[in-house]
Amino acid sequence: MSNSILEIKGIKKSFGGIEVLKGIDLSLEQGKISGIIGPNGAGKSTLFDIISGYQKADEGEVFFEGNNVIGKLPHILARQGVIRTFQLTRIFRNLTVAENLLVFAGKSKNRTGNTKERALELLDFVHLSGLANAEASTLSYGQSKLLEFAQVLMHSPKVLMLDEPFAGINPGLIEQMAQHLKDLKSQGLSIILIEHNLPMVAKLCDNISVLSNGVVELQGTPDVIVNNDRVKEAFLGGH
Ligand SMILES: Nc1ncnc2c1ncn2[C@@H]1O[C@H](COP(=O)(O)OP(=O)(O)O)[C@@H](O)[C@H]1O
Ligand SMILES: [Mg+2]
Repeated sequence: MSNSILEIKGIKKSFGGIEVLKGIDLSLEQGKISGIIGPNGAGKSTLFDIISGYQKADEGEVFFEGNNVIGKLPHILARQGVIRTFQLTRIFRNLTVAENLLVFAGKSKNRTGNTKERALELLDFVHLSGLANAEASTLSYGQSKLLEFAQVLMHSPKVLMLDEPFAGINPGLIEQMAQHLKDLKSQGLSIILIEHNLPMVAKLCDNISVLSNGVVELQGTPDVIVNNDRVKEAFLGGH
C-alpha cells in the first residue's frame, strides 16, 4: 500500500435487491489525480457517497491514511480531510458568496491560520472576489460550482472527490478549473474525479478507472483508456 492515501476494498451496495456495486477495489495514490468514468447509473456517485460517509456500504472497507474509516459520518471525514462535491451543488443560496465559505470556520483540523483570510484567498483563486457580497442565489450555474469548489477547499482537504465538476460549465471556465486542479495537485492534494468529459479526464488524470456493470471493468493510464475500443465506442458513439 506504499503511497496510497485512500484504499477502497470490496465495496458492495444494493438498492432494492439490485446490486449496484459488486465489489469495488480502488486505490488513490498521494498527490495523484484518479479519474472514474462510466455510463450513467453505473454507481459512480454511490461509490462517492460511501467513501465520504453519506451512504453505508453493504460490504467492504475504505482505508484513509491506513485507517479503516468505513461507517464514519461525513462531517467527521471532512474534518479529517476527506471531502466531496455533489453532482448538484449544495451551496447555501440565501447566504452571500463570502458567507458560504465563512460558515466553515474552524471545521478543519488540518487548517492553520485565519479563516477570513483563507476565504478571501479562495474567492480570489476561483475568480469570485468581485461577488463576495452577492447573494449566492444570484450566481450562474458555473459560478455556483466554483463556489462549491472553494467551499470544499475551506476544509483544507487531503483527499478531494469531485463529482462531475465540469458538467454544464462553459469551456473557458473548465480550463480555469482544470488549472486549479493541477495547482492543487502540485501542492500535494490527492484527487478523485468523476467526469464525462473524456478529453479533460485524460488530460488531468494519472490513471483512470472505468466503472460499469457494478465492477471496475478497466483501469490504466489515460493513454490506455482512451485507446480502448469499448471506451471509444461508449464515448464516441462507435466511431
Ligand atoms: N438512494 C438510492 N436509492 C435507490 N437507488 C439508488 C439510490 N442512489 C442511487 N440509486 C441507483 O443506483 C444506481 C447508480 O446510481 P449512481 O451512483 O447515481 O450512478 P452514476 O453516478 O454512475 O450515474 C442507479 O440505478 C440509481 O438509480
Ligand atoms: Mg453520478
